[in-house]
Amino acid sequence: MTTQQPTHNRWSSNFSFVLAATAAAVGLGNIWKFPYIMGENGGGAFVLIYLLFIFMIGVPVLMAEVMIGRRGRSSPGFAARKLATESGVHPAWQVTGWMGMFAGFMILTFYTVIAGWALSYMVKAARGTFVGINEETVGVVFGSMVGSASELLFFSTIIIVGTVLVVGKGFKHGLERAVRLLMPLLLVLLVIIAIYAANIGDFGAAASFIFSPNFSELTTQGVLIALGHAFFTLSLASGVMIIYGSYLPKGTSIVRTSIWIAVADTVVAIVAGLAIFPIVFGYGLEPGEGPGLIFQTLPLAFAAMPFTTITATVFFVMLVLAAFTSAIAMIEASVAFIQEQFGMTRWGAAITSGAVLWLIGLATVFSFSGAAWTQIDWNFFGKPLPTIFDAIDHIASNVLLPLGGLMAAVFTGWVMKTQFTREELAASGSVYTIWQICVRYLAPIAIILIFLQLLGVF
Ligand code: TRP
Repeated sequence: MTTQQPTHNRWSSNFSFVLAATAAAVGLGNIWKFPYIMGENGGGAFVLIYLLFIFMIGVPVLMAEVMIGRRGRSSPGFAARKLATESGVHPAWQVTGWMGMFAGFMILTFYTVIAGWALSYMVKAARGTFVGINEETVGVVFGSMVGSASELLFFSTIIIVGTVLVVGKGFKHGLERAVRLLMPLLLVLLVIIAIYAANIGDFGAAASFIFSPNFSELTTQGVLIALGHAFFTLSLASGVMIIYGSYLPKGTSIVRTSIWIAVADTVVAIVAGLAIFPIVFGYGLEPGEGPGLIFQTLPLAFAAMPFTTITATVFFVMLVLAAFTSAIAMIEASVAFIQEQFGMTRWGAAITSGAVLWLIGLATVFSFSGAAWTQIDWNFFGKPLPTIFDAIDHIASNVLLPLGGLMAAVFTGWVMKTQFTREELAASGSVYTIWQICVRYLAPIAIILIFLQLLGVF
């Protein structure tokens, strides 16, 4: 067993780290999920509370994870083990790192399938499928894609092969370079769509939906969704920020870079809302349609707009880019782990991760197509989980992510010696104190509230 630092990779600049971490954070969560949960929860008030959670809880936990990575200088599990030893606490605390890695990997098993939807829609858009589509046919297009195991398998396999190729190629020439090329492209496409949407749709209605809070629309449930999403969208508790932190040079400010990552992720989410809702309102469609917002509501609007094929294609290219750069990040943690643990080459580790991912991903693919072995009909604390996909999604996103966030906060706030966290954060006294209050009290209390809600307490 070789548990020493594997590769000693380092980001070529601070900007490169911020860009890669932003690429990991910006994904389906920003463009697919955020707009629809905002739509379901009434808009402005939800957005406001979400912003509060991002900056009061998300950012401090992000700093905690980057800190664990940089000080531990290895993949998440080993990093946490080293720090536990360093602070003289029980080695069981290493679970902080292992669980994140596990949660990230489980999320990735279905994330690649949804990324496959985006890829499939990109191809459909380019072929002109959305020209003249109507309410009935839009449902048929979506239903037949989701129900077709071979189609889902085909597109998710392409996504997985793509991530293996990028990550296998190495840190500098694969991961860093891919992010540097794809992220700017993603941002340019997003801005183009937002400008076009503002011109052609109802920008005023969208802006007032997103920015004027109406607290009577906000429920307890909505508050908790906002908190859960703050973790999901920043890619916290998934091993990603720990592994990316482990490549961060010593002198870099964790405080400053973390704030930048969160700001960039938030701006993308808001701009995605400003790109989608003007179109939705401008064409008289409903904002609260749920997960189908992007795959069913939006194509209807594209059909009603001029330049249907081009607009729809550009939109789905952007969605694929967002999902792909997140998938690369997710696989990186397990690749680094396999290299460390088994002394494999980067290619070997990437292919192994990809193969395991593909195999577990079959459960999600067949859950959608309705194969009998995936229909488990579980009941998880009163929450019905009809398929294996529902179980993986719910348990990873709503249980493991908050739990991992709780552990990272407690680990850095209470378990690691103050002297060490102070050294890593290298912040002024008051900034350090604010951070400490957040990871010691605010984050744990908020997360425990999520769990109480999950258990049906309220
Ligand atoms: N942040 C990603 C998004 O918004 C989703 C995500 C959660 C993720 N955990 C992750 C991405 C780990 C990469 C790695 O879509």
